[in-house]
Parts: sequence; C-alpha cells; structure tokens
Amino acid sequence: MRLFFRDMLTRPTPTTVSAFANTHTASELAIDIHEVVGRYPRADRASIDHVSLQVRAGTILGLLGPNGAGKTTLLSMLCALMRPRSGTIQVHGLQFKDHPDAYKDLIGLVPQSLALYSRLTARENLAVFGRMSGLAGRQLHARMDFAIAFAGLEEVADQRVERYSGGLQRRLNLVTALLPDPPILVLDEPTVGIDPQSRHAIHENLRQLSRTGKTIIYTSHYLDEVEQLCDEIAILDRGRLIAQGSLGVLLAQFTGNQIELRFEPQSISTAAPILRALAGVYDMTVATPLITLMTDNPYQRLPQVLSALEVAHLRPLTLMVGARDLEQTFLNLTGTRLRDTP
Ligand SMILES: Nc1ncnc2c1ncn2[C@@H]1O[C@H](COP(=O)(O)OP(=O)(O)O)[C@@H](O)[C@H]1O
Ligand SMILES: [Mg+2]
Repeated sequence: MRLFFRDMLTRPTPTTVSAFANTHTASELAIDIHEVVGRYPRADRASIDHVSLQVRAGTILGLLGPNGAGKTTLLSMLCALMRPRSGTIQVHGLQFKDHPDAYKDLIGLVPQSLALYSRLTARENLAVFGRMSGLAGRQLHARMDFAIAFAGLEEVADQRVERYSGGLQRRLNLVTALLPDPPILVLDEPTVGIDPQSRHAIHENLRQLSRTGKTIIYTSHYLDEVEQLCDEIAILDRGRLIAQGSLGVLLAQFTGNQIELRFEPQSISTAAPILRALAGVYDMTVATPLITLMTDNPYQRLPQVLSALEVAHLRPLTLMVGARDLEQTFLNLTGTRLRDTP
C-alpha cells in the first residue's frame, strides 16, 4: 500500500543561524507588500492589482501563477526596478524611497532571463558582478570562491559561459545574486528549461540557504517543484493574489477534507457500504476503482477507515489524504491550468 501524505503541516520551520539572523528573529517580517498596484505605461489595465503579501524572515515562499499572472511584475516592484502606482513595500522595515542603497542591499535578484556575459568565464562573470555590487580585493575573491563551490562549478569555472549547458548557466546565474550575501533572495522561474539534475542541484542550494536563515521567494508555474520546496505558497492570477498559506492549510481550506482509496475493482462493492457507514464520513463517491470519502477530519478519521477495512480483510492499493494535489486546488480556485499559457 502506498501512502500519499501531501500535507506539509508537519514540516519543520527553518532554523535561523546566519549572522544576519542573529539580529533578526524568525518571526520578523522580511517583506511587507501592502495594497500594491503595478501598471505598465500605456497598458489598459493594471498588471498587479491591489496585492498585499507578507513574508516572514527565513521562509521559502513559492509564488505561483500561470504565464502572464504578474509574477515578474510583482518581483520587479519588490526589487525596486519598477515603481508601484500605489501601495507600499517594506523590506525589513525599509522603503526604497527613504533608503535606496540599504534597501537594494537586502535583496538579491535572480532574473527570469539569464543575465550573464557569455564570452566570459564563470570566474570573470562573478568578478564583474561582484565589483558591481561593491565587492573588491580579498573579500571579492572569497565570495567568488564560495559562489563557485556552492554552485558546483569548480571544474568549469575557467571556461567560457557560452560552452555551458542551460543548467550550468542557471546555476551560475543563481550564485551571481549571492555574491553580496543578501538576506533575501528572489528567483524568477529559475529552473525553466533545464535538466532534472540541475533543477535538483538548485533546489538543494535553496534548501541550504534557507537553513542559514535566508528568506527566499521562488516564482514558478510548475506546481510540483513549489510543492517540494516551499514552506508557503502564494497564488497569483490575473494580477490578484487569490490565496496564501502553507500548502497544508491551502489544501485543507480549498479541497482537503478527502480520503481517496484505490481498490482492486472486485473489492469495491464490499468496501463501499463499510466506508459509507463510518462516523465522520458525510459523503462518498465511487468511481471504480476509486472511492473518495468526504470527512470532517481526514487525518483523525484515517485509523478508523483502515481498521474497518482490515476487519473485512480489505486493503486499499493506494491511499491519499487531502486534496489530489495543488494543481487541483489551483483549478478549483481559478479554473485555469497552471501549466497552460494564458
Ligand atoms: N513591459 C511590459 N509592458 C506592458 N505590459 C507588460 C509588460 N511586461 C508584462 N506585461 C503584462 O503584464 C502582465 C503580467 O506579466 P508578467 O508579470 O510578466 O507575468 P508572469 O511573470 O506571471 O508571467 C501580462 O499581462 C503582461 O502582458
Ligand atoms: Mg515572469
């Protein structure tokens, strides 16, 4: 029997151990976006429409939405590359207009399109970007060595970037943003079009960074990676924020009160009446070989469900608690499939 426990409620909260975290508690707000409106010149409507979003320090937040939802626009405003038409953004209590330099130092942006000099080597790229962020001398070299090792680029560090695979370029793109060691890292679709190994390496990098107390905003239109990586999820659709919370809370809120069991087809007729009679099961659908129970509390009811089946010598082949997946949740919320283009 396979168990699909999609719920993330039991996930440990990240511990904060970096030098930065010593002066900022984990419960502190890293980002406070309040009623922000973003509109491009000559556009007939706002691309970000009164969005409010708070992110605690040390969180990995997955910002999800289909293409055109406004993810890049929201990040551009967060990174002070675009000015909101209205609303406010505070990063660790600072607003860009009052403290532009200090504000910029708090955020490292990994842009959606690669920002690398393809004719230069990784080391040369890092030197350029490091100097642009104010590093020099021994400190610059120490940060470059860290970046190369962190991205696993030691072997290719002196090769021109144009010879790299897409995955290696993405990894270099990521670590350029880490050179000045910002407490907040913002990544705009960092794994689009790369091989699974590089994607895995980037996720591992982000988990490591999260353990050192960094706040990470990760945008994607791939649900599965956000599901695996993120502590919290915010869903953006047509410029509006339609949901925010932990994956567990979102699933429970929108579709999560289900237990879905898959049986051998011949067992369905015996299993169905047993399950229907259980306390706490208020609805049931049978679609051979699946039986779906709507319950008041699927986790609490699960032992009962299994022992009632055991008594009848029935054992489900697979069992899923909560919603089918986040894709389903998103569909329920918006009627749009995330993987689709607009
Ligand atoms: N430079 C621009 N000028 C005008 N409209 C834009 C520009 N960039 C994006 N948009 C529009 O803003 C909306 C949000 O786009 P974007 O933030 O890029 O979405 P996402 O990153 O979620 O795919 C879309 O409708 C898009 O067409
Ligand atoms: Mg985008």
